[in-house]
Amino acid sequence: MQLIERIEDVRAQVDAWRREGERVALVPTMGNLHEGHLALVDAAREHAEHVIASVFVNPTQFGPGEDYDAYPRTLEADRAALQSRGAEAVFAPAVTTMYPDGGTLATRVEVPSLTDRFCGIARPGHFTGVATVVCKLLNIVRPDTAVFGRKDYQQLLVIQRLVADLDMPVTVVGAPIVREADGLAMSSRNHYLTQDERRRAPALYQALQAAANRLAGGAAGPREVEAEAWRRLVDAGLDPEYFSVADADTLEPVGDTIGRVVLLAAAWLGRARLIDNHELTLDAR
Ligand code: PAJ
Repeated sequence: MQLIERIEDVRAQVDAWRREGERVALVPTMGNLHEGHLALVDAAREHAEHVIASVFVNPTQFGPGEDYDAYPRTLEADRAALQSRGAEAVFAPAVTTMYPDGGTLATRVEVPSLTDRFCGIARPGHFTGVATVVCKLLNIVRPDTAVFGRKDYQQLLVIQRLVADLDMPVTVVGAPIVREADGLAMSSRNHYLTQDERRRAPALYQALQAAANRLAGGAAGPREVEAEAWRRLVDAGLDPEYFSVADADTLEPVGDTIGRVVLLAAAWLGRARLIDNHELTLDAR
C-alpha cells in the first residue's frame, strides 16, 4: 500500500495505471476510517481495477469554533484498514500542498441552489470548502469514478451537480449508508458521544424511520411528520437543527406530492452533531 503525499506522485501513479488501459476510482475521506468509509472502497473496487483513497482533514470546510483541531487523525490505522479492503494507495497531502496560500480560497466552487439550506445554513461556508476541495482532488487524481456516501446526502448532490456543471470527466457514485446494529449511522463524530448519549443517539434514525412510514402510508403529510419528528427528537434529549421532507433532486420543500423525496435531519447530542437521512419514493394512491 503506497502512501503518496505529493500531487506529482499521485498523478504519475494514475497515469501509469491508465497507460495500461486500467480504470481508477477515488474515495475521498477525512480519515479516521470506519466501516462506512470502507464500504465505499468495496463499492469503488466494483468500478475500477485500482482504488485510491484520499485522507485529508480539509480546513476550509470547518467553520470557526468547529472541531478542525479535535478531528481525529489516525493515518496509520487508516492505512492498514484501506489495505485490508484492497485499496492500493492513499493520497494524504499536507495542508500546504493543498493550500499553498494558506487556505484563503482565491478561487471557490459554490453551488448555491443546493447549499442555501439545511447543513449550508447551519455551517456557513462549509459546502464551499467541500466543493472546492473535492474539485481539487478530482483534478489532482483524475479518477474515472469517485465514490461518496449517501449518509451526507446534501454533499452528494452538491458534488454531482458541480461535476455536471463543470463538465468534469468523472462518474460520481453514491453508496448506501452503513449503520451500527441499533440504526445509528456510522460517523467519525460518534466518538464524541458519552455512553449515555450513545444510548440515545439512535433516536435520530428511529425518527426518520417513523416519519418515512407515516408518509409512505399516507397517514400524514410532510409538515405533520416534520413536527412529529421534531417533538420525538426533543423528547429523546436531542437538540434538532432541522428535520425536513424535501425533493430528492432539488432539495426544495415538498407539499402533498408524489415522487422521490428525502427526509433529512441534523441534531446535536452533547458535543456531537449527528446527521442522517432516508430516501423514499411516494407512490400515487
Ligand atoms: P468524511 O466525513 O470522512 O466522509 C468520507 C466519505 O464517507 C463521504 O462520502 C461520506 O458520505 C462517507 N461516509 C461517512 N460515513 C458513512 C456511512 N455511515 N455510510 C456511508 N458513507 C459514509 O465527507 C467528507 O469526509 C468530506 O466532506 C470530503 C468529501 C472528504 C471532502 O473533504
